[in-house]
Amino acid sequence: MCAWTGIGCCAGMEGVVGMATGRYVSGRPKVSVIGAGMVGGAVAQYLALRDYADIVLVDIVEGLPQGKALDLAETAPVLGYDSHIAGGNGYEDTAASDVVVITSGIARKPGMSRDDLLRTNMGIVRSVTEQAVQQSPDAVLIVVSNPLDAMCHVAFAAADFPRERVIGMAGVLDSARFRTFIAEATDVSVEDVSAMVLGGHGDTMVPISRYSTVAGVPITEILEPDQVKALEERTANGGAEIVALLKTGSAYQAPGASVVEMVDSILLDKRRVLPCSVYLQGEYGIDGLFVGVPVKLGREGVRQIIELSLTADEKAALKKSSAAVQDLVHAMARLGAEPAPGT
Ligand SMILES: NC(=O)c1ccc[n+]([C@@H]2O[C@H](COP(=O)([O-])OP(=O)(O)OC[C@H]3O[C@@H](n4cnc5c(N)ncnc54)[C@H](O)[C@@H]3O)[C@@H](O)[C@H]2O)c1
Repeated sequence: MCAWTGIGCCAGMEGVVGMATGRYVSGRPKVSVIGAGMVGGAVAQYLALRDYADIVLVDIVEGLPQGKALDLAETAPVLGYDSHIAGGNGYEDTAASDVVVITSGIARKPGMSRDDLLRTNMGIVRSVTEQAVQQSPDAVLIVVSNPLDAMCHVAFAAADFPRERVIGMAGVLDSARFRTFIAEATDVSVEDVSAMVLGGHGDTMVPISRYSTVAGVPITEILEPDQVKALEERTANGGAEIVALLKTGSAYQAPGASVVEMVDSILLDKRRVLPCSVYLQGEYGIDGLFVGVPVKLGREGVRQIIELSLTADEKAALKKSSAAVQDLVHAMARLGAEPAPGT
């Protein structure tokens, strides 16, 4: 009998390694990542480095989540973390997750219409959400799959959770891009730059330069108007800029790190104020739509939606952006009523 694992002998250590059940049990919070592709893998990697949560990767592709989990587990002795990382094709190991991150979906393939893509990802996000919440009814859901705000609607309906526990990741990434470009333009550390991007995750997003600062000073007081406009445009085009450079695939490092910033705020109850896609019920004059706005994130998910005072132009841009989300929601209602292609 082993004195260290406690298997079969050591009183007080039973269950630390659940040899009897084949399950790993620890006192750390659990984060499940559904979709072990590029973004899912980056989430697991950055989260493992934070060393406070156990991680379960799930994917439909056999071997992919298992392989990524094993690779990350074998990185642990070198980089020095104790997070337990498991991978599988089912949901049993995700049971009682504190946070579930949904990154599953497919990219648009040649010959595929936007509607086909929307319908396919709707089906994937609905199905994985239903299976994940069955195992983890108290989890906070972070949705990453695109089109982001539309997929938040799908997950919200499938989970039947309170709005505080269904949160889309986009604003953290878009603001990180804006911060990068501001730091570059002003030649200061990214640490001294903060930025705010509102609206839907797409080319109608609304970078708010008045609330984007270098050491507390709005960039509108530091840079010329045409410089500010160029930075805003580069931010709105940030995803496409990476796609054009990579040729195949899209960004995953910054998206993965952005998810982890949200997970930190939730699981460590940090109460960071971060722009996230949340279900608005009258805030910002928007009702019944997921749109990116600043929220306070803590252990229970969204603790508060923060309403910034906006100028008439900013309000109009946010309205236009939320109208784009509304169009997608209408398209999903139409597609949901149509048979899937090939059936
Ligand atoms: N919100 C954002 O800011 C943001 C940023 C980057 C990427 N994304 C989106 O995140 C998603 C993932 O991007 P990626 O680069 O990791 O793509 P990817 O193709 O590398 O990974 C997607 C994974 O989902 C898996 N999958 C598909 N159907 C599944 C199912 N039914 N159950 C479980 N897994 C399933 C695939 O096998 C694949 O491994 C995409 O929709 C992408 O557009 C969003």
